[in-house]
Amino acid sequence: MRESRDILLFSGTSHKKLAESVAENLGVPLGKCIIETFPDGEIGVQILENVRGRDVFVLQSIAQQPNLYLMELFILIDALKRASAASIAVVIPYYGYARQDRKDKGRVPITARLVADLLEKAGATRVLTVDLHADQVQGFFNIPVDNLTARAVLSQTLKKAGLDNGVVVAPDLGSIKYAKYYASALGMPFAVVDKRRINSGHVESGVLIGDVRGKKVLLVDDIYSTGGTLKMAIQVCKEAGACSLYAAVTHYVSQEEVPESLELEKLYTTDTVPGEVSSAKREVVTIGPLLAEAILSIEHGSSVSVLFR
Ligand code: R5P
Repeated sequence: MRESRDILLFSGTSHKKLAESVAENLGVPLGKCIIETFPDGEIGVQILENVRGRDVFVLQSIAQQPNLYLMELFILIDALKRASAASIAVVIPYYGYARQDRKDKGRVPITARLVADLLEKAGATRVLTVDLHADQVQGFFNIPVDNLTARAVLSQTLKKAGLDNGVVVAPDLGSIKYAKYYASALGMPFAVVDKRRINSGHVESGVLIGDVRGKKVLLVDDIYSTGGTLKMAIQVCKEAGACSLYAAVTHYVSQEEVPESLELEKLYTTDTVPGEVSSAKREVVTIGPLLAEAILSIEHGSSVSVLFR
């Protein structure tokens, strides 16, 4: 069996802090490489380790500057492939573009599929990611995809948050699987808001299915971007008599802090995206140990399915 010290983990520039935390959990240093920007804006990469015949991992989160970080990732993979790595597993804590996973109107792309094709074309041989927006994005790849979930990690923190007599609420129909999971993990009932979106930046008000009167509400979702979805759900729950509101979201992709005006006691998120600073309104739970455990399982050829639950 291979030792964890044999693991070679490289990092792009999107989330060095998380990569360092994963490396620390694995007990290995980050692989050495140069990533630079040439005067004309092109990206240059050089791998400074021997990777010939080795299984390597590359961590890059596709958020905040998704186009830059994707291009950087493609180039890193290409460099590793041409340096004769035996396999290249990309560790993508947040898989950007996953929300563009279908043609829901005329003449739009399926960019989640395009990104999958490009990763494979560049030379990725495996993908390790967290709470993909839609599970079916796994099917866009012809290489193995391990889609971990941060729900168990967040649940551990939520168990200590004093949410007794609470109810879990899905802010839209797509989040029902999250609501069901948290409801079962925390021993709470769940309700659903039927959200309608006008466009990528605006959501229309929704209708609550379930009862929240006099209860603490825990809203659960995969992504916080503009905050529009949560804002609408908060309004609906307040009008239905909720006494206080909390939220748990895996990916906090906004570059701004949680606005004071958002009527939440606390928002629980993970550090899949950089900018992971806890504040009065936000508590950040790290997924570094989860990623390290999955990497170790892949390296040892042991099952990772327990990490999907
Ligand atoms: C949508 O289907 C997702 O699950 C999230 O609800 C959505 O992406 C959140 O975005 P925003 O914060 O901009 O409403």
